[in-house]
Amino acid sequence: MSVIELADVVKRYNNGDEEIAALKGVDLAVDRGEMVAIIGPSGSGKSTLLNVIGLLDTPTEGTVTLDGQDVTDLGTDGLTDRRRESIGFVFQAYHLLPIFTAVENVTVPSMWDSTVDRTDRARELLDRVGLGERLSHKPNQLSGGQQQRVAIARALVNEPHIILADEPTGNLDQDTGATILDELTRMKNEENVAIAAVTHDEQLTNYADRTVELVDGVRR
Ligand SMILES: Nc1ncnc2c1ncn2[C@@H]1O[C@H](COP(=O)(O)OP(=O)(O)OP(=O)(O)O)[C@@H](O)[C@H]1O
Ligand SMILES: [Mg+2]
Repeated sequence: MSVIELADVVKRYNNGDEEIAALKGVDLAVDRGEMVAIIGPSGSGKSTLLNVIGLLDTPTEGTVTLDGQDVTDLGTDGLTDRRRESIGFVFQAYHLLPIFTAVENVTVPSMWDSTVDRTDRARELLDRVGLGERLSHKPNQLSGGQQQRVAIARALVNEPHIILADEPTGNLDQDTGATILDELTRMKNEENVAIAAVTHDEQLTNYADRTVELVDGVRR
């Protein structure tokens, strides 16, 4: 069973009297333990697709299935719950909170639920991405590559089934990007998560099990 399945997804945006179809009937399924790179020219619908997969946006037509459950018509609260349970996010600009330590930043996605304490898991994940000696450092005391490793640990803290990444190596030099992709690949295998990553980076497509190309809102 795929973690996420999109069937004939259409996304239209209304700008006053102009209508833009950002996605024009996209099918996509991603399995656990699989990394899919999403590529395509600017404006082809990559971010829109990632937002639909991440339950941050809903399709105009078509269906979205997460872990076998049709989530297309769940509504905002239901989508938020499913997103927290099953999806982790990694962004190009890390988005770490400057006043928080590495450990605190990693626990952020678990803070909405006061009945669980993920501090031990946060420490363990940071150790596994090579930051065991940097647990109490703040983001400005860490390099870009180290900050992105904190972000990877944060994406994994709630034991997601899929990680979505928007240009995860976009702010990093080639070598640092390679170590981040090594970490992502290792965590993908160890935690058996699916990864969908939007990228302009050739290097990332080499790490991916599969590449999906969008052109003008359709898969090529
Ligand atoms: N909120 C929105 N309202 C109106 N139009 C939008 C909105 N979001 C995206 N679009 C339009 O949908 C199309 C696809 O945009 P999208 O951001 O998905 O492209 P992209 O492939 O991520 O491009 P880039 O590589 O530049 O980030 C574009 O024509 C864009 O202008
Ligand atoms: Mg984009």
